[in-house]
Amino acid sequence: MDSFYITTPIYYVNDIPHLGHAYTTIVADVLARYHRARGRSVHFLTGTDEHGQKIEEAAQAQKTTPIKLADRVVSRFRQTWDHLGIGNDDFIRTTEARHKAVVQDIWRRMDAAGDIYLGEYDGLYCVACEEYFTEGQLDEGNTCPIHHKPVTHMKQPSYFFRMSKYEDQLLEHMEQNPGFVRPEIRRNEIMSFIKGGLRDLSISRTTFNWGIPVPGDEDHVIYVWVDALTNYISALGGVDGDDAKYGQFWPADVHLIGKDILRHHAVYWPTMLMSAGLPLPKSVFAHGWWTINGQKMSKSQRNVVEPNMMAEDLGRDQLRYFVVRETPLGNDGDFSHEGVINRLNAELANDLGNLLKRSLAMAGRYCDGHVPAFAEDQEANEVDSNLVALACKARDAAAQHFEACAPSRALESTWELVRGANKYIDTTAPYTLIKDPEKKRRVEEVVANFLEALRWISLLIAPVMPDKAQELRSQLGLGAADTQGQLERWPERWGDLPEGLELNPGGALFPRIDDDEKARLLDKWQGKGKGKGKGKGKGQGQEKKEPEHITFEEFGKLDLRVATVLSAEKVKGADKLLHLKVDLGDEQRMVVAGVAEAYQPDELVGRQVILLANLKPAKIRGARSEGMILAAGAKKVLALSALDREVPPGTKVR
Ligand code: ME8
Ligand code: MG
Repeated sequence: MDSFYITTPIYYVNDIPHLGHAYTTIVADVLARYHRARGRSVHFLTGTDEHGQKIEEAAQAQKTTPIKLADRVVSRFRQTWDHLGIGNDDFIRTTEARHKAVVQDIWRRMDAAGDIYLGEYDGLYCVACEEYFTEGQLDEGNTCPIHHKPVTHMKQPSYFFRMSKYEDQLLEHMEQNPGFVRPEIRRNEIMSFIKGGLRDLSISRTTFNWGIPVPGDEDHVIYVWVDALTNYISALGGVDGDDAKYGQFWPADVHLIGKDILRHHAVYWPTMLMSAGLPLPKSVFAHGWWTINGQKMSKSQRNVVEPNMMAEDLGRDQLRYFVVRETPLGNDGDFSHEGVINRLNAELANDLGNLLKRSLAMAGRYCDGHVPAFAEDQEANEVDSNLVALACKARDAAAQHFEACAPSRALESTWELVRGANKYIDTTAPYTLIKDPEKKRRVEEVVANFLEALRWISLLIAPVMPDKAQELRSQLGLGAADTQGQLERWPERWGDLPEGLELNPGGALFPRIDDDEKARLLDKWQGKGKGKGKGKGKGQGQEKKEPEHITFEEFGKLDLRVATVLSAEKVKGADKLLHLKVDLGDEQRMVVAGVAEAYQPDELVGRQVILLANLKPAKIRGARSEGMILAAGAKKVLALSALDREVPPGTKVR
């Protein structure tokens, strides 16, 4: 059977899942569902990347062990994928034995090819990227261009991979396989990167332990990217495991990734595979970057879109629809809160929701709530044959777009049919025809056609909105199966909707988000009093404010966060003040706190405190302060704020 193997990146466990991770995973799920619908044997893999210095440091900062940190975050990922309707076939963790064995196997293969040698690494490294930089690649002040954090100078013995040896071979592969790196703009980037010359890659470490040991030299752990990339094969049971999955699914059809990790997938991974003597994946597709209301996603901006909450507020299929439809795969996208609501109202509630509602209402009134007989001859009437032609065109275009990893375009094509069906109703005007008793049979033909269009639409939207597709079918009186009892997956023939079927109209498929609800959601997401509806809400017209109370909204303006103290020092010339460095999960801050009379600097390191993170930054006695730590005591500090159990740094306090 035709097979299709699609993967997402395995996500680092120092961060909880956010919209960016959800996006890649949703799109991979959509493509997997499409290929399943076309009868292919699909394997869809996601998972977590748990080794390396970054994870070790994150665990240390949280006073926990790497594996405990990983276990905790992994359950967040699994739960999120569950909430978003992700149907992955496997979930790989790099701390699993099945993974470690295969990483060492690949290492041995590369070694046997004469491609690994011992040397010394002397250069600059960004722990957040787990990546090397040359001086020329850095921003001012020797900071990493991606994380804007200082890089560290590393000098240590290291094994190297002779990546340089594969420069020509990789270039040739790229030239012969224009679809290897997609989209085109990323392919060009990689081409010029390779042409700039490949250097050998440092692939081991001696300064920490949290990783997979180098076979034959336990002083070294394997570089986390060599470890991580191998997941795509370890999850298949390895190259010569007993598991037949490798034979069935390797090489992968698509490694879906974000553009941030293109070079690892389009240069490191294929050259590693060449060295190990293994086939290369068929393609690497790098999608673009999401911003939130035009801003970079970051926890300190309080704008990380929490996918579980969004799925709850909007409906999970609606969230999936939005992210897939909003931007063509490969382009950058903006998750504008208003944009989401407007799009869902226009395309789901209006276009499709209304089509279903009016169709079922007419079928109820004119055909007694049952599917009437189709016309003997669909060609007899031009509007009918036009509708059928439009449906076939939409279906074929959608298929083509899904095949080409362009799911947003597949939805666009599907909406041609949604709008076409609405127009078909307007043109045939069954509500007028019905007034003429002689036209009764014509009305039935028309009703059969628009119900059939809805059946087709249910199948076309199913990869993106599996639950809603099922709900739509159920309102049409259909189950998941066709009349032959087969699972119905993709529209084949026009007119298959069984005559006589009893329709089952239900509530709105996509309830409209009205102005009040919109204002409520925007308030909730943005914590601002923005977009207030004209609402009949209580409190309206009740203008006087009670001075001793603040509103929930006002409280919401305080960005209270859990911060882990990384270091503490006395502020020179101020005996009450300490200068603290704190960790907020994805960033670090310097904060001045008036606690020096109550605490020794060393006592504070590793403690978790509550930080008012959006207090305007200031200089206090020459020391930078980016927030305020909460403490008890009116004049003198008596005790610091604390939590009664440990939580990830950056967690919101409310
Ligand atoms: O890089 N917009 O893991 P990671 C779009 N462990 N996509 C985004 C995004 C955003 N703002 N933020 C994150 C790693 N992503 C490595 C991968 S693979 C062998 C090892 C998505 O947790 C996007 O897919 O940093 C990006 O490539 C990935 O999350 C990075 O996840
Ligand atoms: Mg990252």
